Amino acid sequence: MEAIASACMDLSGIDLDRVPSHIGCIMDGNGRWAAKRGLPRTEGHAQGEHALFDTLEGALELGIEWFTVYAFSTENWKRPKEEVRFLLNFNQEILDRRAEDLHERDVRIRFIGRNNWRVPKRLVRRMDEAAEKTRFNKTMTFTIAFNYGGRAEIVDAVRALVSEGVEANKITEAAIAKRLYDHSMPDPDLLIRTSGENRLSNFLTWQSAYSELYFTDVLWPEFGRDQLADAVREYQHRERRFGAV
Ligand code: FPP
Repeated sequence: MEAIASACMDLSGIDLDRVPSHIGCIMDGNGRWAAKRGLPRTEGHAQGEHALFDTLEGALELGIEWFTVYAFSTENWKRPKEEVRFLLNFNQEILDRRAEDLHERDVRIRFIGRNNWRVPKRLVRRMDEAAEKTRFNKTMTFTIAFNYGGRAEIVDAVRALVSEGVEANKITEAAIAKRLYDHSMPDPDLLIRTSGENRLSNFLTWQSAYSELYFTDVLWPEFGRDQLADAVREYQHRERRFGAV
């Protein structure tokens, strides 16, 4: 088990009383990071794991209560078979390597996505074990979006409403929100995407209606606690009006 490195980050200019409660993160650019170095894409993902756990360490130090990452999208099945197989194993290995350490840090691990569809049973078992072991932890909820698609999540919520026989006039925003994969998860205040791509690619589609968006050219393997701090500084300069004036 690899322990999370101890924290040491520059918090200057950050008001710790106004940090986002929930940050979502699209960890993009692993493949390009590797290609730039003449390495296989899998090396980019391996480096991406270090980036993720350095970022998580920063999030803990900042006191972020909810942190959600896009680990595998419903569209990722379209990648070459070998990369899909690698990513499935890779995610399982990360849980094996890191779940205990996260548990010791009082982090609650949760999953959102269609885990009953195409995901190997052994991986689903590991996910269930990690979620079960950490379910009473309080310091942070770390949600892993796995086999996740925002539109699929809305479709699944609507299917639930229909199968429950909910009448058309009872279908409200609250009724849909209640049937999302984790209805207790607050909407993200800040969504980060790395690697210079300026879109959300089906991540937290329902929940991101009023999120602040932060795009950076940094490739995910080069992201970490300092880049997270930059994103939070930028967030604290934004004015959030939620449709009001
Ligand atoms: C995007 O880079 C990244 C991914 C598809 C996977 C990222 C996953 C992790 C870092 C592990 C997370 C796992 C857990 C269990 C928390 P890309 O391959 O799309 O890069 P490219 O756009 O440069 O090709």
